[in-house]
Amino acid sequence: MPDGRAAALATLAHDIESCRACPLGSSRTRSVPGEGSANAELLFVGEAPGASEDAVGRPFVGAAGKLLDLLLALTGRAREDVYVLNVVKCRPPENRDPAPEEIAACAPFLQRQLALLSPVMIAPLGRHALRAFAPDAKISTAHGNPLEGGVGLPLGATLFPLYHPAAALHNGALRPTLERDMGALVRELPAARVRWATARGVAGEARLKQQEPTAERAQLRLFESEAE
Ligand code: URA
Repeated sequence: MPDGRAAALATLAHDIESCRACPLGSSRTRSVPGEGSANAELLFVGEAPGASEDAVGRPFVGAAGKLLDLLLALTGRAREDVYVLNVVKCRPPENRDPAPEEIAACAPFLQRQLALLSPVMIAPLGRHALRAFAPDAKISTAHGNPLEGGVGLPLGATLFPLYHPAAALHNGALRPTLERDMGALVRELPAARVRWATARGVAGEARLKQQEPTAERAQLRLFESEAE
């Protein structure tokens, strides 16, 4: 199935490339469908591409992306181990917030991606991405813990909100919080896997066996020593 999933994600990326459902389809340079392992159990969801992403068609390649890479490295993971995408696939001009109708136009793509990837855990990055899954939640209180009651989640997935890396670049005081939250996310993964596999039955158990969380073991040690 991972091969079939990768092919379906590639088809979806083509559909996104030719989308003109909202004005962003005409103002963008490149669409940014998202990328990573088709078999990832961990999905990070940003808001919308910025200028750097718009130029190359890949998510989180600017300053916020570099911080995301550092945070992933703290967990012993690289980009290729996870999947990274945005709620909105095309850059809003001047990096303004995406309009509700732009978010709505892109929602079917996000839903198809979620259904194909069927991740164990979804980490919305920042308040705009969080709103796509939990319209009433506040990032200031929801960050760093699993959040119940998300909407539009694939079966069994755990929602685990994080601050957006760009927020930690603007306000350095948030960076230790983001690092701590990333540790909490990794520690929540085993329980999230059990919830996911329980919700999915035999097929879920089989897929969990395919996913070797070797990187995570190294990270657990790292965060254990931090807690001592
Ligand atoms: N910020 C986002 O939310 N997404 C990106 O891809 C880059 C920056």
